[in-house]
Amino acid sequence: MSTKFTTQSFLEAKRANNKITMLTGYDYSMAQILDTCGIDAILIGDSLGMVVQGRDSTVEVTMEEMLYHCKCVARGTKNAMLIGDMPFLSYHISPEEAVRNAGRFIQEGKMNAVKLEGGKPMAETVRSIVRAQIPVMGHIGLTPQSIHVFGGFKVQGKEQKQAISLMEDALALEEAGAFALVLEAVPEALAKLITEKVRIPTIGIGAGKHCDGQVLVINDILGMYSDFTPKFVKQYAELKQTIVEAVGGYIQDVKTQQFPETKHTFSMNEALLEKLY
Ligand code: KIV
Repeated sequence: MSTKFTTQSFLEAKRANNKITMLTGYDYSMAQILDTCGIDAILIGDSLGMVVQGRDSTVEVTMEEMLYHCKCVARGTKNAMLIGDMPFLSYHISPEEAVRNAGRFIQEGKMNAVKLEGGKPMAETVRSIVRAQIPVMGHIGLTPQSIHVFGGFKVQGKEQKQAISLMEDALALEEAGAFALVLEAVPEALAKLITEKVRIPTIGIGAGKHCDGQVLVINDILGMYSDFTPKFVKQYAELKQTIVEAVGGYIQDVKTQQFPETKHTFSMNEALLEKLY
C-alpha cells in the first residue's frame, strides 16, 4: 500500500540514509504521472516562470499564478508530498505577510508545505511560518530570486567567506524550524559538509551526490526546455523531439486526409438528415 510522504518521512529518510526524490511539477497530467511513478515530493516551483511562462527569470511570478498551478497539481496527486514555492516579494515585506501568504498555499493551493529562498536574514520569517503550523523548506546557495544581486546564475560558496556564510545560513534555517533545505549550485564538498552538520535533510540541485535527496526541473529532465540548460541537469528523455515528430505526423495526416479515420468519427441514421436538405 502506498502512503503519503510527509515532513516526518523526510526526516526518517535522512536517518535511514534513503535518498529523497523530488521533481518540479506544474499541472494535473504531469502530477498524476509523477505520483504514479512514486516520486517522494513534487515542488510546484516558481521555475514555472521560465519553463511554463517563458519569462527570463522567476522574479515576475505572482502569488495568484503560483496558487493556480498548486491547485492543478494537487488535483493530480495522492501520495507525493506537495511543496509550494513562495514567489518573490510574497515573504520579504514582513513576517505577518509571509504567514498570510504561506497560509494561502495550504488553504487555497492544497499544499503540504512551502519553500522559500534565503538564509540567515529569512530565519525570523521561517520561524513565524513554522509557528503557524506550516512546514517550511529552506533554499540556499544559488537562489534564483536574487539573480539581480548575484549578477547571473552563478555557483555559490566557492570562496571561503561565502562558504562560511552558507554553513551559517543552513544552521540558522534548521534552528528556525525548517524541515529540509534545498542546496542549489553549491560545490559538492561544501554540500557534503552542510549535509553532515544539519539534522534536517538536504535536497541538492547542482550540489553533488552527498545530499540527502535530489531535485530537478521536470521540463529539463524530459528534454522539453532548451532556452537554458544548467551543467547539473541530467536529461532522461528527448520529449521535444518526440513532440516535434508527433505533431508533424498529425499535420501530415490532416493535410493528406489520413486523419480522422472512421474509428474516430460518430455515425447516425442518415435518413434523419433528409429533413435538413
Ligand atoms: O523553482 C524551482 O523549481 C526551484 C528548484 C529548482 C529547487 O526552486
